Amino acid sequence: MFNSIVKDKNYKNLFNGDWVTSNNTIDIISPVDNSLVGTIPAMSKDEANIVIQNSKASQKNWANMAISSRAEVLHKAAALLDENVDYLSQLMQVEIAKDKHSCIAEIKRTADFIRFTADAGKHLEGETIGADNFPGFKKNKISFVTKVPVGVVLAISPFNYPINLSASKIAPALIGGNSVILKPSTQGAISALHLVAIFHEAGVPHGVINTITGRGCEIGDYLVTHNDIDFINFTGSTQVGKHIAVIAGMVPMIMELGGKDAAIVLCDADIESAGRDIVTGAFSYSGQRCTAVKRVLVINDVADSLIYELMKNIKLLKIGNPEDDCDITPLIDNKAADYVQELIDDALGHGATLLCGNKRNANLFYPTLFDNVTTDMRLAWEEPFGPLLPVIRVKNIKEAIDIANRSVYGLQTSVYTKNIDDAFNIANKLEVGTVQINNKPERGPDHFPFSGTKSSGMGTQGIRYSIEAMTRLKSTVLLINP
Ligand code: NAP
Ligand code: G3P
Repeated sequence: MFNSIVKDKNYKNLFNGDWVTSNNTIDIISPVDNSLVGTIPAMSKDEANIVIQNSKASQKNWANMAISSRAEVLHKAAALLDENVDYLSQLMQVEIAKDKHSCIAEIKRTADFIRFTADAGKHLEGETIGADNFPGFKKNKISFVTKVPVGVVLAISPFNYPINLSASKIAPALIGGNSVILKPSTQGAISALHLVAIFHEAGVPHGVINTITGRGCEIGDYLVTHNDIDFINFTGSTQVGKHIAVIAGMVPMIMELGGKDAAIVLCDADIESAGRDIVTGAFSYSGQRCTAVKRVLVINDVADSLIYELMKNIKLLKIGNPEDDCDITPLIDNKAADYVQELIDDALGHGATLLCGNKRNANLFYPTLFDNVTTDMRLAWEEPFGPLLPVIRVKNIKEAIDIANRSVYGLQTSVYTKNIDDAFNIANKLEVGTVQINNKPERGPDHFPFSGTKSSGMGTQGIRYSIEAMTRLKSTVLLINP
């Protein structure tokens, strides 16, 4: 199945059912050992335009196919994904340096996601509304409200979940009757192309799923401003997301962007369990998750005991290579590691207390914990996207909420406490998409709504919510003559 997508390590794009090359290519280098994983095409704008026209032309037939038949194709894709877990997991380990355990979990989770989406699609229902519900109208008018596809969906995914955050756009778009163009992150594109090969093999008709690879900075603006793109489903940085939102014009979109998720720890929390949970939340996949814990706001009275637990759990983290299933693996590139270093140096310069870490071997960064971080430090506000956790000591709950809400981001916040009233009262005041009580921030399970406020995005992901976003209501009104 994967033989057709590559020749001599040169990967191809899927266009109208064929795997095609472009004149220019981009080398994909492994963050683990700097080896060449392969090359991907750098598609030109003219080629991209042909792809978009093809996606547009192919969509109508797919939309006319019964939802139950579209669901069958998705079920087949999920089964193929399950069959290829080991192969895909090895590829991801090399391409994005994600640990083996997390790669396997991502692929299995994605197969479940696709199955659940297929079944959710079968419950896509419209409604009828009588006119007489509104004052002055009689029973002689009925609106038949149905859900129809938006058209061509441009799915743009980030490097950190190349399979899952591509499929979480593709599957809901397909079940809704749309055609999809996937523009994967350049680093991660090879894994994402394999996912698309699976949808193709499962029977998604020619042109209903196409791919465009190439650097976002070169081809991205062209894609997001193209007249025949009907929906943009983007996950990535706030910087790129805001740029797209400004230039794309009147196109509906979902934007899942960055975060600075806080873990608020109250005096009555189970400190041992909170410490364990926060370390997993902050350091899994070396902190390269939008929902990673990116700051701890702890009431001063329990700060020392929490730090003891954090240190205890950090010492248990395995550092090294993805294939050895290490928790801390090399960051996606040296630039990412340089940025982590910048935030560390700023914190040290402003008097934060380094408890562990600040050790680096090229792009492999050791888990780093700071105490006594204050709000004049960049580390209190910026998203490191690396294994770096600041502890900010606060006097009381009010100060914790204030600092949590002063962030430009609003993705998730965790509250650790045994007092359910405090938990809900704090949750009511937090300006985020999701509040987790006694649990680390996280997106799943994938049928929950997942969204951010402020600079963390707009629109809502989550299986039913994604399908609803990528379908629109269409009303046909019947006037019944007396
Ligand atoms: P990124 O640099 O913003 O890239 C995301 C995607 O956008 C990539 O496919 C990229 O392509 C593409 N892109 C770049 N410039 C573009 C343009 N002008 N027009 C259209 N597309 C463009 O993000 P990343 O480094 O992959 O991911 C890390 C960031 O994503 C973090 O900030 C993280 O918090 C956020 N994130 C958020 C969520 C969430 O659900 N909220 C989930 C995961 C990640 P190239 O790779 O070719 O540049
Ligand atoms: O960064 C990806 C984001 O969507 C988080 O997913 O499952 O790690 O919480 P998860």
